[in-house]
Amino acid sequence: MEFHLSLDNSHDLTAQIVHQIRDAIQAGRLPAGQRMPPTRLLAGQVGVARKTVTTAYERLIAEGWLRARVGDGTYVGDGLARPPAIEPAARILPAGVRRWMAVDTPFLEPGGGGARYGFRPGQADTTRFPHDAWARCVRAALVSERNRAPGPAEPAGEMVLRQAISRHIAFTRGVLSAPTDIMVANGAQQGIDLMARLLLGPGAVVAMEEPGYPMARALFQGMGARVVPVPVDAEGLVVDALPQDAVMVYVTPSHQSPLGVPMSLARRQALLDWATRRHAVILEDDYDSEFRYGGQALDALQTMDRHDRVVYLGTFSKTLVANLRGGYLVVPPWLMPAARKVRHLMDWYTPTLTQQALARFMSEGHLLRHIRRSHVRHAQRRTRLLSRLGGDLARWLEPLPASAGFHLAARLRVPLQADMLVSLARLADLDLATLDPFYANPPESCAGLLFGFGAIDLLDIDPALDRLGMVLSGLAPDRSG
Ligand SMILES: Cc1ncc(COP(=O)(O)O)c(C=O)c1O
Repeated sequence: MEFHLSLDNSHDLTAQIVHQIRDAIQAGRLPAGQRMPPTRLLAGQVGVARKTVTTAYERLIAEGWLRARVGDGTYVGDGLARPPAIEPAARILPAGVRRWMAVDTPFLEPGGGGARYGFRPGQADTTRFPHDAWARCVRAALVSERNRAPGPAEPAGEMVLRQAISRHIAFTRGVLSAPTDIMVANGAQQGIDLMARLLLGPGAVVAMEEPGYPMARALFQGMGARVVPVPVDAEGLVVDALPQDAVMVYVTPSHQSPLGVPMSLARRQALLDWATRRHAVILEDDYDSEFRYGGQALDALQTMDRHDRVVYLGTFSKTLVANLRGGYLVVPPWLMPAARKVRHLMDWYTPTLTQQALARFMSEGHLLRHIRRSHVRHAQRRTRLLSRLGGDLARWLEPLPASAGFHLAARLRVPLQADMLVSLARLADLDLATLDPFYANPPESCAGLLFGFGAIDLLDIDPALDRLGMVLSGLAPDRSG
């Protein structure tokens, strides 16, 4: 690599070389351990006597910036003698950057915990994804993409996919929509982002469940909105506790994230009435309710809504695989023109190849077949999990009622520290998720545990829970006798 030096012949050339190399090291352009060009080469490159460069290197070595390795060359030093770099935090950061840096961002680092066992919440069973069918759909989509007319695509999505989604949610959830009400999104998260951009300026009030989905909370906070946590009880969000000035309410009524409690019919109606009176928008996140275990599914808020206050949000991350980044919104007609504009300015549209492949995948019935198969496996795992939680683990844990999705929450009957619990479980090769990150204001002791059963093998459930039992009996032995 050629190191760039720009010398001005009017004064001390050695000093100029010293300063420029020192500046490059301080700025990180020359990292620790980087091999410096040989003196002869650098001298030739900048047109000075070799002695000038040798003297500059000697000074930098004496100051600790460079290190000579006998018979090998000269390297950038390890930084011990270097004055501390200016910390970004000490610089004057723009307010927006400071706000985003202050936001707690869950799941930011890729990958899971890495233990042998784990009830990883939110993770679908990717091992059973019908890859061959998907590959055929992608190939067919490639052919149709070849014949696409030039120019940008529709921001709300490919019409074939919007039609397929509209049919799908009518069938699985009783959500009635026209295909033109559907906005395809890159995952539910982009749907939340889009609605936040549309409805929340800085300082705008958004209400959400406490505990609630941290990815939504973090996003709203980063955008400068005022996020008001609203308690959840056995009937779901406590509508009477909503802040009067909220312009948007983000809720998970089918399977509260994370507690699992479904919102009662009375509360659903109260929430709709409240939003109608206040001209507020309800963002209904129906992220995993395709999977139900007995009991009648209550109507979605979107189905009950008579005043176009509800934006319905769905995802393929739970029914297929999260890495597809597939999701959708059902947007009321009055909001769609603005939503199309925002989406256009955000990222134009979702890649059309993925959209075409997904539309074919759905219309050929692969999605519904995959959901049915996953459902059977989820039900088996859930039964096993519940039987242990209600059996030998019942002295420590109390599962909360939930009849949808693929996670269960359980309260701890004994006060324990979440960090301690997670670290000890990790020593037993078990990744544990607690409810604590879902709280804007986490309680003093661990709020409870979250058991995702989307991706765990049925045969791994017992060994995983045996490990949990061991950890809990070690921490709270007095309750185990
Ligand atoms: C409450 C909630 N909403 C939405 C999602 C799905 O997000 P995405 O579609 O962006 O993967 C999840 C995933 O865990 C979730 O827990």
